[in-house]
Amino acid sequence: MNNHFSTLFATIFLCFFLLSFPTPSLSAKWNPQDKKAPSPESLTKLKNLTTLCFTNTDLSGPIPSFLSKLRSLDSINLAYNNFSGPIPASLVPKSFANAEFTSLDFSRNKLEGGISFFFGKNKTLQIADFSRNLFEFNLSKVEFPNNLVFLELNRKKIFGILPEDLTKLQLQLSNVSYNRLCRKIPTGGRLQNFEETAYFHNLCLCGAPLAACK
Ligand SMILES: *[C@@H]1O[C@H](CO)[C@@H](O)[C@H](O)[C@H]1NC(C)=O
Ligand SMILES: *[C@@H]1O[C@H](CO)[C@@H](O)[C@H](O)[C@H]1NC(C)=O
Ligand SMILES: *[C@@H]1O[C@H](CO)[C@@H](O)[C@H](O)[C@H]1NC(C)=O
Ligand SMILES: *[C@@H]1O[C@H](CO)[C@@H](O)[C@H](O)[C@H]1NC(C)=O
Ligand SMILES: *[C@@H]1O[C@H](CO)[C@@H](O)[C@H](O)[C@H]1NC(C)=O
Repeated sequence: MNNHFSTLFATIFLCFFLLSFPTPSLSAKWNPQDKKAPSPESLTKLKNLTTLCFTNTDLSGPIPSFLSKLRSLDSINLAYNNFSGPIPASLVPKSFANAEFTSLDFSRNKLEGGISFFFGKNKTLQIADFSRNLFEFNLSKVEFPNNLVFLELNRKKIFGILPEDLTKLQLQLSNVSYNRLCRKIPTGGRLQNFEETAYFHNLCLCGAPLAACK
């Protein structure tokens, strides 16, 4: 229970934090039944919208594709909803060099598929919370952005190994527990600063802070 509440608190805090930036942003308890709720069409007119924060609402179904029309979006927080299916890769179109995100929180939905397209060496992503979904992908070849400080990937079906590059990041918070990761946790950087619970319940992860590899 404690962990549940602290995560909920962190999510809400993050929303307030993002919204406190002096940038065009939007936050609401969005009930699609409510006639006064903004329609997707009206949202796509907000070309300069940088922060979208819809958490803990009754939203369900696929992640709306109109989001990819919001070219200035820099932070998306859709945590604690009931979204399902894959995140459309069109959220990060290759033709738009400035389609860069600083903060993404898709935690606690029912999303599937991969999320590798959000990552990459030169991306500006700093905060990434994809925990508690149904994502399934191979983490081995994912390249993490240099500025990433917050990486939550727990409770899904991620497999492969933890890439060596993770040791180069100034991670403040990281949790890859409850996945299907294997082999040795790379040694160095901040990776050994995290508790065992940040890595436990994987297929065969080993090495500090978990037990030594056999
Ligand atoms: C969006 O930003 C551009 C450039 O800063 C500005 O010229 C334009 O008026 C803004 N549009 C709206 C609808 O605020
Ligand atoms: C989420 O969706 C499931 C069906 O997929 C439904 O049973 C459940 O009530 C929904 N939960 C919320 C909070 O909307
Ligand atoms: C990242 O940026 C560096 C320097 O600007 C460039 O040389 C490199 O090709 C870029 N890598 C990718 C994957 O875009
Ligand atoms: C994950 O990707 C790595 C590198 O491409 C590959 O060697 C490995 O076999 C893959 N793991 C699985 C379980 O597919
Ligand atoms: C990591 O996430 C798991 C699952 O939510 C949780 O039980 C554990 O306490 C977390 N550990 C850390 C260090 O955040």
